[in-house]
Amino acid sequence: MDSNSLALPDARDGLRYAIRAISLENISSLAKNGLGDPNIIPLWFGEGDRPAPAFIGEAMMRAVRAGEVFYTHQNGIPQLRAALSDYQTALGLRAIGPERITVTASGMNAMAMTVQMIAQAGDNIIVVDPVWPNLGGAAKVVGAQVRSVRMDLAADGWTLDLDKLTSAIDDRTRAVFFASPGNPTGAMIPMENQIAMLTLCRARGVWLIADEVYNRLVFGMDHGPTILDHADEEDRLVVMNSFSKSWAMTGWRLGWMVHPPSLGPTAAMMTQYQTSGVATFIQHAGVAAIREGEPFVASMRAYCEQGMAIVCEALEGYGRVRLGARPKAGMYAFFTVDGMRDSRAACLDILNRSRVGLAPGSFFGPGSDGFLRLCTCRSPDVLREAMTRLEEVLR
Ligand SMILES: Cc1ncc(COP(=O)(O)O)c(C=O)c1O
Repeated sequence: MDSNSLALPDARDGLRYAIRAISLENISSLAKNGLGDPNIIPLWFGEGDRPAPAFIGEAMMRAVRAGEVFYTHQNGIPQLRAALSDYQTALGLRAIGPERITVTASGMNAMAMTVQMIAQAGDNIIVVDPVWPNLGGAAKVVGAQVRSVRMDLAADGWTLDLDKLTSAIDDRTRAVFFASPGNPTGAMIPMENQIAMLTLCRARGVWLIADEVYNRLVFGMDHGPTILDHADEEDRLVVMNSFSKSWAMTGWRLGWMVHPPSLGPTAAMMTQYQTSGVATFIQHAGVAAIREGEPFVASMRAYCEQGMAIVCEALEGYGRVRLGARPKAGMYAFFTVDGMRDSRAACLDILNRSRVGLAPGSFFGPGSDGFLRLCTCRSPDVLREAMTRLEEVLR
């Protein structure tokens, strides 16, 4: 082999090795198989069929007309940071000052920014899964290793083995990531476990990254518990959140994170080199969502709960499906099918035979290939039709 051929792998496409090693396979690439086909019921993505309420769009239009169209504050406009700070208090949670809040261009952007602030090539990040894979993806982008600590499925739901988590941490561990309520499990990690994770992270000098994107979609509750209520201001804790789910704003790309006050300037610097700030008029829409959106959030919670009941009732009647305890939060059913080994192949087969789009368990972490995920945030009529079609292939 001459020196030219040794140089070839990079010369060919010029990409970093870490980037090349990341699989292009995700829900979007799977969903390409059915895009544009009106007969497909798409239950693969984590979003519903309701748009954001009109008052949010009107607030955005007002902001555009008022000339809110220029470069803006890196941590977010003061009005939105103040609204988010008030929101914490209005929910009866511990006060969080605006200096601890950075507005981001989505929950995903908050994840990418957080990972870039704390990890580099050769480090590792522990991911409690099954979970939405994108924090892991953001870690791989910087060349960090993703270490899976899988929850176990017991009769009463998913449980986390703290010993397993403790032994996964080593000198190169930079963070532990979990989502509660979870996607795809809908599981809520008990607060005593979350506090134990925080204590462990404190002792090891590791960051704790908590994803509370579904925390307003806890059935029968106004909101789930938050680790912020048990943490000190300067704990190495980042809690990320998003307008996507509870306010039905997936396409608006708006989120926020709560971080130690001392991280604010670094988060501003990171924003500068990523998006240079979230569009001002979108942030004004966020102010309206926070200040006037509570009735809508309550209706989203009821919508998801109703959808969950329809889906679970149907799944429980299919002989080959194992669902376990019904999820108490979120917008997903996550279940196994007897005899199924390859969840991606199963999704394609189900798509072809029933025209219903599901997401493969394999996307949510190692050990979940026997599972399928179905989004329950759809109108009752659509879900009933989907479940009738699925009965043909899953019974
Ligand atoms: C657990 C979890 N966190 C974060 C997100 C990101 O939301 P977004 O980037 O739309 O704000 C999602 C989206 O599905 C999610 O399921």
